[in-house]
Amino acid sequence: MNLILLGAPGAGKGTQATMIADRYHIVHISTGDIFRANIKNGTEIGKLAKSYIDKGELVPDEVTVAIVKDRLTWDDCKNGYLLDGFPRNLYQAEELDKFAEIDGVVNINIDFGLLMDRLCGRRVCKECGESYHISTLGGKTTCARCGGELYQRKDDNPETVRSRLDVYTSQTAPLIDYYTKKGVILNFTGTEAPASVLFEEVKTALDRLAK
Ligand code: AP5
Ligand code: MG
Repeated sequence: MNLILLGAPGAGKGTQATMIADRYHIVHISTGDIFRANIKNGTEIGKLAKSYIDKGELVPDEVTVAIVKDRLTWDDCKNGYLLDGFPRNLYQAEELDKFAEIDGVVNINIDFGLLMDRLCGRRVCKECGESYHISTLGGKTTCARCGGELYQRKDDNPETVRSRLDVYTSQTAPLIDYYTKKGVILNFTGTEAPASVLFEEVKTALDRLAK
């Protein structure tokens, strides 16, 4: 199964992706995670990506498309993959069509009112990438899963979140229509309920698709 996860910043793409990848034994490919790993390692791609990510803008298409095109040739993609955060505009979607066949697009619609608090309160584990919200940490600064140190993403601040949401609305949201027309969209609504509740719905739809 080759899937795409679509949704605004903070909609819960990464959270759902971990659960989907585990259940269906497919590889989770997050372009945001790839860029952050490059930033951490000080690569040329990292230096370029940082200048866009810090402003909440998209990293140039040619760089992003080349990364994904190469990543999909790796052996671990043979059983299927889940693209999280790619494509993010029509150009990327059209390019993806040239080198991939997509079976389903998991689209998480969510009220923007829920997102600012989710994102500005998010803390992420440096080691395993697990996400938390400060309201549930009780002052703890380490990961409950692996003990790694928690940090706040540099783009999780009110000004950059506003810009990320604007970019989503103008460039990424039109992809809902693009994939609806292709007949591969699966629509869900993100709510204040725990992520496991949404996952139950996603699982029902994907079980049907996997048959
Ligand atoms: P990326 O890393 O993809 O960030 P994003 O799209 O802004 O999305 P997030 O990772 O912030 O949110 P999410 O939907 O994964 O939510 P999460 O599960 O963590 O991209 C970052 C940047 O990289 C972009 O701005 C761009 O610059 C660049 N980039 C990436 N891809 C690109 C591309 N294709 N082209 C060009 N540039 C690109 O959840 C959020 C929080 O909510 C967490 O704390 C979580 O614990 C919590 N949560 C999740 N579900 C629930 C729930 N049901 N109830 C309560 N809390 C919940
Ligand atoms: Mg994410």
